Amino acid sequence: MAEKFQETGAILKNERIADGMFWLQVKAPEIARHARPGQFVHVRVTGPSVQFLRMPFAVYDVTGEAGVVDICYQVLGEGTRQLSGLSCGDELDLIGPIGNGWSVPSGAKHALMIAGGVGAPALNLLGRQMAADGIVVDAVMGALNEERLCCVDHIEQATKASGGTLHITTDDGSVGTKGFVTAVSDGLIASGAYDYVAICGPLPMERNAARPALENGVPCQVSMEKLMACGVGACLSCVVDTVAGRKRCCVDGPVFDAAEVIW
Ligand SMILES: Cc1cc2nc3c(=O)[nH]c(=O)nc-3n(C[C@H](O)[C@H](O)[C@H](O)COP(=O)(O)OP(=O)(O)OC[C@H]3O[C@@H](n4cnc5c(N)ncnc54)[C@H](O)[C@@H]3O)c2cc1C
Ligand code: FES
Repeated sequence: MAEKFQETGAILKNERIADGMFWLQVKAPEIARHARPGQFVHVRVTGPSVQFLRMPFAVYDVTGEAGVVDICYQVLGEGTRQLSGLSCGDELDLIGPIGNGWSVPSGAKHALMIAGGVGAPALNLLGRQMAADGIVVDAVMGALNEERLCCVDHIEQATKASGGTLHITTDDGSVGTKGFVTAVSDGLIASGAYDYVAICGPLPMERNAARPALENGVPCQVSMEKLMACGVGACLSCVVDTVAGRKRCCVDGPVFDAAEVIW
């Protein structure tokens, strides 16, 4: 198993970037140096009267030289509410990098990334890495509405740098194509252009977005954001049913081959 680190570092930025969405930067040099695309950090707000359980967040970005880890999060419950109230200089406790990360098939030339809502942060580093490796990267990013879209600028940098195209969908049509991501991604996959598809978002979206890739035999991976407690494989709160039996999202994932998952 790859090395994990526990680091307590100062917050450098905690900025609202969209409706209920924040971009946070924290000093965590070892995690920044070792994180790979698709891995996550397990975060705990320190201090009295804060919640006990850690929260998993995808590594959105890293700056290895500066020792900085970025996450992008949506305020959902008590933990993320507390996180959103923190200021620069406050400290956070992180364990990471955790998980297997994406594995792009060797020889891939044209990839499609599909992001639903707050699934986008898990795809940012992957897009950048694939662009650097000479793979053309297209992306479909979907959200409830324009205000809920996050990480668009970063993902667009990767698609542009690779010579690929970014497509936007919103459920209410406030920007991009009206409808779910599948309104665009189904047709793109059916065109036969792709030799790798990477998906991150809510479970029903992942299941539907992966279907045409599975039907057409296109290698497809999904990052599954299951509810987690321990984050170290001990509590079994994060199990995923697969053709090879029950797997733990925290230590066996969070990235799984879509063909392996029993949807
Ligand atoms: C590997 C992984 C990567 C993640 N990456 C990100 C990320 O980059 N950005 C981000 O905003 N969130 C991400 N999440 C989800 C994030 O961990 C939760 O939203 C957060 O822990 C909620 O904490 P809370 O205390 O605010 O809410 P809680 O009080 O714990 O939950 C509030 C409500 O949200 C539901 N909920 C909590 N976690 C999840 C989940 N994983 N899936 C579906 N429903 C959930 C709960 O059932 C409850 O109804 C990720 C989850 C995993 C497992
Ligand atoms: S969170 Fe405990 S086993 Fe995965």
